[in-house]
Amino acid sequence: MTDSCDSSTLRPWAQRQACCPTFEPCIEVLDLTVAYDGKTALHRVSLDISRGCITAIVGPSGCGKSSFLSTLNRLSDLTPTCQVSGSVRIEGQEIVGQELNLITLRRQVGMIFQKPNPFPLSIHENLAFPLRHHGMNDRQRREEEIEKVLSRVGLWEEVKDRLHAPALGLSGGQQQRLCLARALLLSPRILLLDEPCSALDPLASAVVEDLIASLRGDYTVVIVTHNLAQAKRIADYVAMFWQVDGAGTVIEHGSAGTLFDSPADPITAAYIAGARG
Ligand SMILES: Nc1ncnc2c1ncn2[C@@H]1O[C@H](COP(=O)(O)OP(=O)(O)OP(=O)(O)O)[C@@H](O)[C@H]1O
Ligand SMILES: [Mg+2]
Repeated sequence: MTDSCDSSTLRPWAQRQACCPTFEPCIEVLDLTVAYDGKTALHRVSLDISRGCITAIVGPSGCGKSSFLSTLNRLSDLTPTCQVSGSVRIEGQEIVGQELNLITLRRQVGMIFQKPNPFPLSIHENLAFPLRHHGMNDRQRREEEIEKVLSRVGLWEEVKDRLHAPALGLSGGQQQRLCLARALLLSPRILLLDEPCSALDPLASAVVEDLIASLRGDYTVVIVTHNLAQAKRIADYVAMFWQVDGAGTVIEHGSAGTLFDSPADPITAAYIAGARG
């Protein structure tokens, strides 16, 4: 894991370059194909994702963005009709078609969804439960970890006086930050975010977006977003997904600056100009 960046004095684009000066593959995807019940949803996707950077996955509805994310922590295993072939290497380790400990994998590769999904328990228990489940039996240490992670997501001051209130009583944005806290608690290396702001109002969305941007350097972040302005603001790299002959694939991948300012593919150019998709 790289050191986090103290980039408070830099402008956004310079900030990103300071944190992600070189491309170092953390996730290597080669010829990945995903089908449901024999119908191809994603066709031969090859894409490397750089460590410690934010990579945005963009593209129109139905082109396989969520299917792609779900192969990166084998969440796709939970869909019995889903067949995955090709190769996904996480820090060099192949995860497609391998016998491996999925709890360990998902601890390393955390995931956040569009709709916040806290457990129907108290705010405190949403964090204490996973810590106990993963063997942290020292109560004092658990409490320290809970305060630390709630502070990390900017929630501590907002909830410290009602830690035992139901998590479902929090606002949508607070619930999403709690879910992020729950994911961070287990010290993942990689975070997969599937449209994490799209169910939130603009103010809550901005808070969560800033939080995601602050993860750069410490975590490898892959975020699916329909919000191109958001991708432009926070992503270091962007992968453009598109349906070709009825199945999704990557049509262009590069640094956010290049992809937004001078896209090579005319479809990408039209999509980011708002003309297609
Ligand atoms: N569980 C499933 N069973 C059958 N088909 C599925 C399943 N999940 C996804 N698909 C199909 O796979 C294709 C890609 O879907 P996916 O949800 O990955 O797209 P997406 O890019 O995330 O779309 P959106 O932007 O709307 O979330 C679609 O045709 C979809 O209908
Ligand atoms: Mg999706």
